Amino acid sequence: MRRAIAHARRGLGRTTPNPVVGACVVTPDGVVVGDGAHERAGEPHAEVFALEEAGDRARGATLYCTLEPCAHTGRTGPCTDRIIAAGIARVVAAMEDPFPLVRGRGFELLRQAGIAVDTGVEREEAARLNQPFLTTVREGRPFVILKAAMSLDGRVAAAAGERTQLTSAPAMRHAHYHRAQVDAIAIGSETLLVDDPLLTARQVFRERPLTRVVLDRRLRTPPGARLFSTLAAGPVIILTSPEARAREVDRVRALERGGATIVAVDAPGIGAALRALTAFEIQSVLLEGGPTVHQAAWDEDVIDYVHVYVTPAMLGPDGVSLLDGRSLSPATLVEPRVVPLGPDVLIEGYVHRPH
Ligand SMILES: NC(=O)c1ccc[n+]([C@@H]2O[C@H](COP(=O)([O-])OP(=O)(O)OC[C@H]3O[C@@H](n4cnc5c(N)ncnc54)[C@H](OP(=O)(O)O)[C@@H]3O)[C@@H](O)[C@H]2O)c1
Repeated sequence: MRRAIAHARRGLGRTTPNPVVGACVVTPDGVVVGDGAHERAGEPHAEVFALEEAGDRARGATLYCTLEPCAHTGRTGPCTDRIIAAGIARVVAAMEDPFPLVRGRGFELLRQAGIAVDTGVEREEAARLNQPFLTTVREGRPFVILKAAMSLDGRVAAAAGERTQLTSAPAMRHAHYHRAQVDAIAIGSETLLVDDPLLTARQVFRERPLTRVVLDRRLRTPPGARLFSTLAAGPVIILTSPEARAREVDRVRALERGGATIVAVDAPGIGAALRALTAFEIQSVLLEGGPTVHQAAWDEDVIDYVHVYVTPAMLGPDGVSLLDGRSLSPATLVEPRVVPLGPDVLIEGYVHRPH
């Protein structure tokens, strides 16, 4: 199963809206005869690659897979049919697939065909790989990572309305690497107005478009924002209110001409805005701030993971605090990790026990 998990990792950040999955076929005498990974939506599933590699040697063998095999026809046919036809004797899966069209049906079909099924092997580790998929299926919103850079005294900017460069080059590289993995980056409208950021993943490889999202209920985004010069990197979605959309007719027209997709969200909360993103097949969001939207997301309990880059500088009492001065320390996070990045330190971890 650990080998199947290693294969699953190959798809990380690339399979949305599908989960990442890895699989191996092992003969009764313990020889691995097939390996597979699901690498992109629309391409074959991990089980199919592993079975194809195994060929006739799959007959009587065990299939290890990191997620329950699918039992329905989506962009590809059901894996259960392929497993049964290949003559697999036993399936060992790390976990059930909570997707409504599967949810135990895959296991049931395999058992009905006389195949032995065991589940729960390395479940925790397999589930960690698919937090975006699991959060979207179970909670109807994307997996949200709060990202912020702060000074030693917990400030994210020297003063309100001011752009403050805090992190070193190694920390910036790490942040861009993570931008390359998520489906979308989101910022509050004030950060757009103050920083005028590009929101692209730079100096890293990313093979899919990266969606950029602005949380902007009053629709203040200027059509001349630098963000609109980066549409080759991916779409720009502005989440606004129905009132602003109706009121700001000229701005809506100018923004749409500039390439923005404007979505009116019925409810004012950040949770509703995040839920609206699932219609665009967005399952993971890096919420880059500023502190007002971070606080709103924290208060609504929709932050799943944090990435806080702490830099050895003091910004003083006039600086803007992250999360009302709340300390996001390893002691308050689940499965925390502290990573030195040049002169800076990254503190990361789950806010709650993950799925
Ligand atoms: N160090 C860092 O990591 C970092 C990162 C980003 C920004 N910053 C800094 O932070 C400052 C800007 O932060 P900020 O706190 O003033 O603004 P912000 O969080 O960027 O944006 C706030 C705006 O977001 C909009 N918004 C949309 N949905 C919302 C919701 N559900 N709840 C609350 N607000 C919502 C609100 O405008 P509407 O009411 O019109 O929607 C609100 O005025 C800048 O100085 C920037 O340089 C630092």
